[in-house]
Amino acid sequence: MKSLIVSILCLLIVVFAQAQDGHELWLRPVKAKQVTVICKENSPTLSIAKQELKDGWTGENNATVTLAIKKDKALKNDGFRLSKNSVQANTDAGILYGVYELLRRQQTSEPTLPTGRQVNNEIFNPSYEVRILNHWDNLNGTVERGYAGNSIFWRKNDPFTLTDNDKKLWTEYARANASIGINASVLDNVNASPLILSADYLNRAKDIANVLRPYGIKVYLAVNFASPSTLGKLKTADPLDEDVIAWWKNKVKEIYSLIPDFGGFLVKASSEGQPGPQNYGRTHADGANMLADALKPYGGIVMWRAFVYSSNNEDRAKQAYDEFMPLDGKFRDNVIIQVKNGPIDFQPREPFSPLFGAMKKTSVMPEFEVTMEYLGHANYLVFLSTMWEECLKSDTYQQGKGSTVARCTDGSIYPQKYTAIAGVSNVGLDTNWNGHPFNQANWYAFGRLAWNNTLSSEQIADEWIKLTYYGDSSQKSNEPNYTSGWNQNFLKPVKKMMMESREAAVNFMTPLGLHHIMSANGHYGPGPWWAPKGMRPEWTPPYYHQASASGIGFDRTTKGSDAVSQYHEPLASEFNNVTTCPENLLLWFHHLPWDYKIKNGRTLWADLCYHYEEGVNQVREFQKVWDKAGPYVDSTRYMKVQRKLRIQCVNAILWKDACTLYFQQFSKMPIPYELERPVNNLDEMMENDRGDGQSH
Ligand code: GCU
Repeated sequence: MKSLIVSILCLLIVVFAQAQDGHELWLRPVKAKQVTVICKENSPTLSIAKQELKDGWTGENNATVTLAIKKDKALKNDGFRLSKNSVQANTDAGILYGVYELLRRQQTSEPTLPTGRQVNNEIFNPSYEVRILNHWDNLNGTVERGYAGNSIFWRKNDPFTLTDNDKKLWTEYARANASIGINASVLDNVNASPLILSADYLNRAKDIANVLRPYGIKVYLAVNFASPSTLGKLKTADPLDEDVIAWWKNKVKEIYSLIPDFGGFLVKASSEGQPGPQNYGRTHADGANMLADALKPYGGIVMWRAFVYSSNNEDRAKQAYDEFMPLDGKFRDNVIIQVKNGPIDFQPREPFSPLFGAMKKTSVMPEFEVTMEYLGHANYLVFLSTMWEECLKSDTYQQGKGSTVARCTDGSIYPQKYTAIAGVSNVGLDTNWNGHPFNQANWYAFGRLAWNNTLSSEQIADEWIKLTYYGDSSQKSNEPNYTSGWNQNFLKPVKKMMMESREAAVNFMTPLGLHHIMSANGHYGPGPWWAPKGMRPEWTPPYYHQASASGIGFDRTTKGSDAVSQYHEPLASEFNNVTTCPENLLLWFHHLPWDYKIKNGRTLWADLCYHYEEGVNQVREFQKVWDKAGPYVDSTRYMKVQRKLRIQCVNAILWKDACTLYFQQFSKMPIPYELERPVNNLDEMMENDRGDGQSH
């Protein structure tokens, strides 16, 4: 008996300890009530749906819930119809998504049906057909720009053995994705190794696909364009060469024999040193179409990235548009051009890429970065949803007012055969999957926005906080007034902090439209000075900030690089005119003198200093918000976030000091005396910056 009690206690301790390490994400176990599930059909996916209902039902006790597969024209792809006690869909995955929605609504106390409307069910259709995570995972187990440990898919030692732990982890990963509507994963880095297409790696991809499939997730692979020559030993990888075409056809056949529902290829070609059709004098369309033709018979697609720029005199921000626009209409209908949200590279703030809303006969999909490459790695608290929402809601004016990036990519404006959205994953082997506990919110937000690109970040934050933290504290959730206290003292301030967090990072890193001035390789701390002799100019920060005695900012007006003209009117004129250009993009589009008067009456120099100070102060406020949240969070996560906020604060001060002191060399103006004085010396900061991001 005694040993039984000890075992139970140990078990409880383990369960309790697990509840604190963040591994369960937003899917923490609940005290489920009784429910009877009626479902005529059977499949692995439906079994999961039934089990989830049984494990997670917090609605009416002893309720009966019906799950029904029924052809319904109002439902798109894996959409579903939801009522209080039923989920109906065209597909098994649709049922699973409906179940997760139902459970989420119960758990967050959101009504199952919209209030105030006389309806007994509601339709949920996904905005995009393919909602995909791009893992930048290398076959040796490292993750490019990963800040949460090594790959969950690949490893260096014993790389091909399928272990129970692999299966467990991949199942948890698949479940997390399905719960927010993600239905696809690219398993390897866009800087792809040809080896991914070798038999051993394809077999492992098959193992992964088998685990992910019941959760409605298809796998895709990033491929190296030169594979026919490097792996296949052909003389060339020219996309118009007959042997090359045959090689890819055979390879695709081999893949489908292993993974019958394989999704397709993601390709980074003729970009940052990666091979591509241009190596053989061919166009992006030639390359993409050759792969698309090989995949077509099986229903596969090609996601062809538009992240291209070369070392020439043309403004880097213009190059993708210049290269892809002439190819509009030349791509097969199973090719989608994958475009990063901004024209340069996942900066804390960029205008939307002019490739959104540009092409009329080519499918285009957005690519967002969930991993925190330019936003503090696993150290900063930055809720990225507000940044993505800003992009999705930007008006491209493709077909007049209201042609938002969201509508230009989800098929609302121009019909696209396939619609998709990609997020560069922040998942790794860390116990909490994402490094910083708040980075889980970014994974969550990506899935929610991919499912519904009109959701507000505020709603997403609200859901995530409730699912992740409610009842998780030293205070007992069954104590009287727990909920009102939690709402007031935790939910409200933490949500506010999340909503402000991206702007805070912009303020202390790259305010007023500055960009790409971070430490050169690590992209973490400040590095506005970094420009070693002989380096490609567009890989150095001075190329982007253009600071000199005459002022600061990149002139992209009609008098400068003319990048403004890649946007539709009235945007082109709005950006071009310094008085109508949004102030948060001022130095993206204009080079202005230091004493230029900002609308608030300050000089540009003073305003820049104020922004840096504001950013630091915001992080200081976040520290206070979190310190006060103590009673509502388990001690492990509480301390982890607290420590990370301290690191963020130190780094924010470093950014502020580095940028103000560095730019002051050109402005020759005093830092406004009402602001804090720098506490770091410029020469020391420059000396400590090895350009690898490690020193900051
Ligand atoms: C950024 C990032 C690279 C990545 C590239 C890409 O430049 O720093 O690591 O390979 O984007 O998106 O292809």
